[in-house]
Formats: sequence, C-alpha cells, structure tokens
Amino acid sequence: MVHLEFSGTDFDADRAEFIELARSAGLDVVGVIGGKRDRPDAGTYAGSGKVDEIAVTAKVAGAELIIFNHDLSPSQERNLEKRFECRVINRAGLILDIFARRARSHEGKLQVELARLNHMATRLVRGWSHLERQKGGIGLRGGPGETQLEIDRRLLRGRMDTLKKQLETVKSRRAQNRQGRAKSEIPTVSLVGYTNAGKSTLFNVLTGDAAFASNQLFATLDTTMRKVALPSGETAVLADTVGFIRDLPHDLIAAFRATLEESREAELLVHVIDAGDSERGARIEQVEAVLAEIGADEVPRLQVFNKIDLREGEEARIECDAEGIPQRVFLSARSGEGIDLLRTAIAARLYPDLGDEAIVLPVNAAKLRAQLFQLHCVQSETIDKEGSSHLIVRLPYSRLQRLCREAGIELPPRQDPAVH
Ligand code: GTP
Repeated sequence: MVHLEFSGTDFDADRAEFIELARSAGLDVVGVIGGKRDRPDAGTYAGSGKVDEIAVTAKVAGAELIIFNHDLSPSQERNLEKRFECRVINRAGLILDIFARRARSHEGKLQVELARLNHMATRLVRGWSHLERQKGGIGLRGGPGETQLEIDRRLLRGRMDTLKKQLETVKSRRAQNRQGRAKSEIPTVSLVGYTNAGKSTLFNVLTGDAAFASNQLFATLDTTMRKVALPSGETAVLADTVGFIRDLPHDLIAAFRATLEESREAELLVHVIDAGDSERGARIEQVEAVLAEIGADEVPRLQVFNKIDLREGEEARIECDAEGIPQRVFLSARSGEGIDLLRTAIAARLYPDLGDEAIVLPVNAAKLRAQLFQLHCVQSETIDKEGSSHLIVRLPYSRLQRLCREAGIELPPRQDPAVH
C-alpha cells in the first residue's frame, strides 16, 4: 500500500483508515510505504526514486496488488503497472471493490455496478488495449472495421443505459413505499454516521435482529429498514444507511448519495458517533456537510455517542437542551447500556406530546383497557368501588385521544402534561 504525504494533510489518521479499508476488502496487507512530496509526479505520481523503492519492497514482500491511497489517473496506473509488473489500483478502485462486496439490495447492486462501469470506462483503454485490433469476419459483433475497443465501449454504454433505467424504476417504487408508510402514520428514523461508528450494531440491537454487523468498514451499503418498538407503545421505522468516509472518490458520490436520499424524508436523523474517536469533531462536521448537500439539513437530529464501554467513567445518559428536549444520548450498542434511553429519547423527539396521562375507564370500556395494556403504556392502575379503572398511561396525547374517540370514551382535557 502506498500512502504519500503532501503538505497540509493529516498523515497518520488518513493512513490508518486506508489500511482499515484494505482489510475491509479482505486483503492481506504485507507492507505500507510512505513518503513526502510537494506535489504528485505527472507520469508515475510517486516519482522515479519512490517508484523504485516500491518495486523492490513489493517484490521482496511478494505483493500481488499495489494500492495507492490517491487519485491516480488511468495513464499513471498504466505506467505503474508496467513498472511493477502487477496490478495497481487507486483509492476509488479499492472502495468500489468494497462497495461491490457489500451491496445487498437490488438498488445497491445496481448503483455499484454503474459506478464500477463508470470507473472502468475511463480506464478501458488500459487493460484492454491489447484487444484493440481489427476484428473483421462473419458473425462478429460490430462487423468489419469496428475495433474491439469500440465494441467494448458500446457494450459498456448499453449496459450503463440499462442500469440507469432500472435505477429509475427502483426509485419510483421506493417513493411509492414511502407514500404507503406516510399513510400508515409510522414515522421513519434514519441512522446516519461515519463508517464504523456502530450504526449496524445499533440497528440490530434496536430492532432485535442479529442480521449483519462486522468490524469491516462499509458493512452496510444501502438502506435497510425495520420496525422498532418505542417505550410509548408506538413504533417507528428504523433505516440503516451506508457509512460516510472522507474524500469519497468522485465516481462513488452519486451512488453513495442515492442511498442517503432516504434520510431526507425521515422524521428524525439519529447521528451515530464513535465517542472514542480522536477525530470525532471533524467527522461530525463532515457528516453534517454531506447531509446539508443532499438537503437533509432541515431534518431534526439526535446525536448518539456510541462505544462508551471503551471510555472509562463515561455513563449512559441523555443530554437535553434548555427546553428539556433530548439532543444527545451516550450509550454502548455492544453492551446494551443506554439503549432504553435511546428508545425514550427517540419517542420524546417523535412524539413531543408524550406524557403521563390520567384516565378513568368505566367497566364497559374493557376493550380499550385491554388495548392500552397491549401497548405496554400503562404505568399504574387502581380499581375503584364501581369497578372503574383509574389508569396512568404514558402515550402521546394525540394517540390517546384517538383511541378514546374510537372507543366512544370522553377523555378529560389535558392538565399540566409531564413530558418525558
Ligand atoms: P459501516 O457499515 O462501515 O458504515 O459501519 P457501522 O457504522 O454500521 O458500524 P458497525 O455496526 O459495523 O460497527 C463497527 C465496529 O464497531 C464493529 O466491530 C462493532 O462490533 C463495533 N462496535 C459497535 N458498537 C460498539 C460499542 O458500543 N462498543 C464497542 N466496543 N464496539 C462497538
């Protein structure tokens, strides 16, 4: 792996992430070569002295692939491959590879394939140039006069057009699903955050599913959605999204953003942050910047500082603003500490009218009483001499009103609601 330092970059952190990316792609890293330069060399990026050093080191270590943590041009890649006699890829190629391994949904796969073809289109001339010769003859595609390169380009364009059409269809279907959800009044909560912050782990804990959490970067490529139960008895739809990464290669920005667009429609964004990350401030800003770019900056935010189990003395807690509205939750998705606090905070943010309500149900309201118990929202109950049930329930007032209306029971006007 080659990671060169140019003036003004955060060398060490960037390098650690680069190595982590390669491990994520399932690669065995046999060496990392550093160095300093003022600016990239036009022909080989690294400059001839450094190229010699890389060639020797790679040979000794038996490297089969050399990855540059930089944006190599197709011609630089070509020059380097000739010199090293092995495959050379750049940062974009590496991330594309990870995306391709991770893409799970139909849409994610389409987006990654499109991004890969895009990336390939600019490099076609390279690996395939040996095929560039006249391919005349009967039955051959394109007929006489068309070079293999032209055929490849045409096939590539055709495939890319098909993919774009398929993506449009998927998008419109997703919009329909969103409408369906809006009708059923289930609010959506989107988990966003820097890669490896712990979104998938948190998603699984909250939705009670051990589907997929690994210590590899980018374990999630596209939005996965599931229902989550809130303490009020309400539910929300929780969506997991792909992780952010600094300097995302240009080819990938469209694919990445498309997977994030869903967050724009969410009622609440839960921004997951690795509490122990030395760069957490900068990462929070990067996430916020991208959210602003995709138009999700208006969506309310709740910050989650995850992995407190790794920080001595850090306790699970909710931090509220001056009006008592939860803004930050400190927890550990791994140990489960603070998860209930997060559920409470989400409920409070989604249902600001959530409070303890006193209600008296006559004997003939047994059905409503059973319903309330089923929602797990009953805090206490006493039965008086007439057999009426005096309940304290924790439920959004609007929801309680609706349930009472449906049961034909009059709800007394709300007095001094205690918001949680
Ligand atoms: P991407 O899919 O790459 O965006 O990552 P993610 O944000 O979904 O992270 P993921 O849930 O895959 O977690 C990343 C790593 O952090 C895994 O090794 C988890 O086991 C670990 N992890 C997650 N939550 C905690 C936590 O509360 N404490 C500790 N110690 N580790 C955690």
